[in-house]
Amino acid sequence: MTYLFELSQENLDLAVQEVIALTLHPFYECQDSFLILKNTLDHKKIRELGERLACTKKISQILFISKKQNLIRDVKHFSWKKVYQKSIAVRARAELKDQEKELATRVLDSLQKGHVDLEDPITKIEFLQIMGKVYAILVLKEIHHDFEERKAHKRPALHPSAMHPKLARAMINLTGIKTGEETRTTITDPFVGTGGILIEAADMGFKTQGFDIDPEMLQRCRTNLDFFHIQDANIKLNDATKIKEKLDYVVADLPYGKMTKPITSQLYEDFFKNLRTILKKRAVLCFEDKEETINSITKNNFKILHSFAIPVHKSMTRRVVVIE
Ligand SMILES: C[S@@+](CC[C@H](N)C(=O)[O-])C[C@H]1O[C@@H](n2cnc3c(N)ncnc32)[C@H](O)[C@@H]1O
Repeated sequence: MTYLFELSQENLDLAVQEVIALTLHPFYECQDSFLILKNTLDHKKIRELGERLACTKKISQILFISKKQNLIRDVKHFSWKKVYQKSIAVRARAELKDQEKELATRVLDSLQKGHVDLEDPITKIEFLQIMGKVYAILVLKEIHHDFEERKAHKRPALHPSAMHPKLARAMINLTGIKTGEETRTTITDPFVGTGGILIEAADMGFKTQGFDIDPEMLQRCRTNLDFFHIQDANIKLNDATKIKEKLDYVVADLPYGKMTKPITSQLYEDFFKNLRTILKKRAVLCFEDKEETINSITKNNFKILHSFAIPVHKSMTRRVVVIE
């Protein structure tokens, strides 16, 4: 089957790699802000992807691809009975909106006894145009996360540079840890701050561990974890450059900005040097986009699997890297 992933547009490269990391599918095609993937994904896998993916808005099955001038003919020929279940809504998006009524009529004619439910249909059919082609799709999963509820300003303890939960979740997914492995896998954030990454990881079902050099930060982190009823996160005072224990997966937002500037490059150098000896699998790290940081990563013999620029504002870009 062929699937259409509708991606959120802030960072398309990252959104694409997030899907690839979880479907482990190397063959795909990108069209605008859509990812087209040939695969066999059962209902369970689609549901799991819907729960995990941060940067995908909708997963659909492509029923057929047509041209605007041939659309009505192709709709008439398609066997709608094969996809219909219990109730149906037919929608045409954007440029095709003016054809919606006619398309719906044709689909219903072909079904003969279809029950229309525009509010909560079991069968959701959409027609949309992507780069000059018309796609007829069956919507399998619409993805809504309650990121707003977990944004930093909604937590009791604040940190000025706390990461957006959507980016934190996408970074965790970029580790490539498969669905089903969560309860057996620990995600460590060695610069835990107020706990943004751990909150997201715990919400996804992972075991979590966090370190910070600042006892006050740990206190704030604990307050936030308690607020979200996360009891089993293991957080402790530790210097990220001196961690001894081996870690499978590390996901972190490295210290940056005015406060830490004078110490940052040495701190990074020491951190990467130490990480090289303790990282068993993968790390996904976010930092202020600077060449010297990339140099420090490669100098310490890490392989950079992926690298994404994340614009924050005019004078600041962050970078997310996946390293092994
Ligand atoms: C960018 S903040 C992390 C923000 C975090 N993601 C959040 O949601 O709040 C970086 C944190 O690293 C901590 N830190 C700085 N140097 C450290 C070190 N050597 N070892 C461990 N933590 C350190 C700081 O105290 C700060 O809390």
